[in-house]
Amino acid sequence: MPLSQHKPMTKNAVLITGAAGEIGQALVRELAAGGAQIVTLDLAAMPPELAGSTTHVTGSITDKALIERLGTEYSFGTIYHLAALLSTRAEHSPALAHEVNVDASVLLLELAAAQSAARGEAVKFIFPSSKAIYGMPDLETKAAHPRVREDEWLHPDTVYGANKLAVELLGAYYSRRYKQLGDAPAALLDFRALRFPGLISAFTLPTGGTSDYGPEMLHAAAQGKPYACFVRADTTIAFMAMPDGVKAMLTLAAAPRQALSRTAYNVNSFSLSAEEFRQQVLAAFPEAQISFAPDAKRQGIVDSWPMGIDDSAARADWGWAPDYDLARCFDEYLVPNIRQRYQR
Ligand code: SER
Repeated sequence: MPLSQHKPMTKNAVLITGAAGEIGQALVRELAAGGAQIVTLDLAAMPPELAGSTTHVTGSITDKALIERLGTEYSFGTIYHLAALLSTRAEHSPALAHEVNVDASVLLLELAAAQSAARGEAVKFIFPSSKAIYGMPDLETKAAHPRVREDEWLHPDTVYGANKLAVELLGAYYSRRYKQLGDAPAALLDFRALRFPGLISAFTLPTGGTSDYGPEMLHAAAQGKPYACFVRADTTIAFMAMPDGVKAMLTLAAAPRQALSRTAYNVNSFSLSAEEFRQQVLAAFPEAQISFAPDAKRQGIVDSWPMGIDDSAARADWGWAPDYDLARCFDEYLVPNIRQRYQR
């Protein structure tokens, strides 16, 4: 719908970009239950069951005029900037990845900076970053450092990892030093990033990521389809249940600013190898046909990601703790919901 037909300006509206994507759908479901005025932006329409919960704008985050118009029509208290090209997709079009993942993020940071200055109150800017900002040089080093801390190994091998790290740094700049040589704005925005493991949802599938082999294996098994996993059986990275991903974003967004010692936090859940993932899937779907057919290039990307990430800063500063360990994730969240979804 044209922006001019939207509801009149509300203070403290919530903007969610990439809202029709995996994290977006889960986040909208949670936030809508709390009664917030939610404006969503995505290239795609919202799924029908969520369409009534938000004011949806169909469009691109790279459309500067559209972002500026959103800024004139709404006053945002919080922005969840989720829209991105994931790591495999980004690797096929690095320039487009930069435009979507970085340039568009700057448009949104500018919007949040302008609104923070105008309101005299910080707009919160919540940004999902990723384990992909780390780059382990080889498998021996990866095995020797199973839980990397925030300031280590910041040499991503992918354009996606470089994009996410760039926005983390820009977000910190907009939070702390924006226009530091000019007149101080009345308030700076409040940027907060989470570095997520591979997120797994029972309800949606990722598109264009490189940790997708986990969710793809599970959803294929639940539908009775054979699956050839594109990484080796021993490949190990961290994963997280989608409800914990949403909980992490909402908890970080609600934390008092003075409690935060950093702008980007690791959040971890559980690590397992692709073979252990297969065993979990077989325990629920014993007929599943899962083989391994590694793709050398995608394998290289996953090998460069750490086995796990140290989230002690998030635990200490804002009380982070996942609800789902490996067993609960499969037994209580993924398997029952996926069975219901595919009626198996
Ligand atoms: N899970 C994402 C991907 O595979 C990384 O954050 O691209």
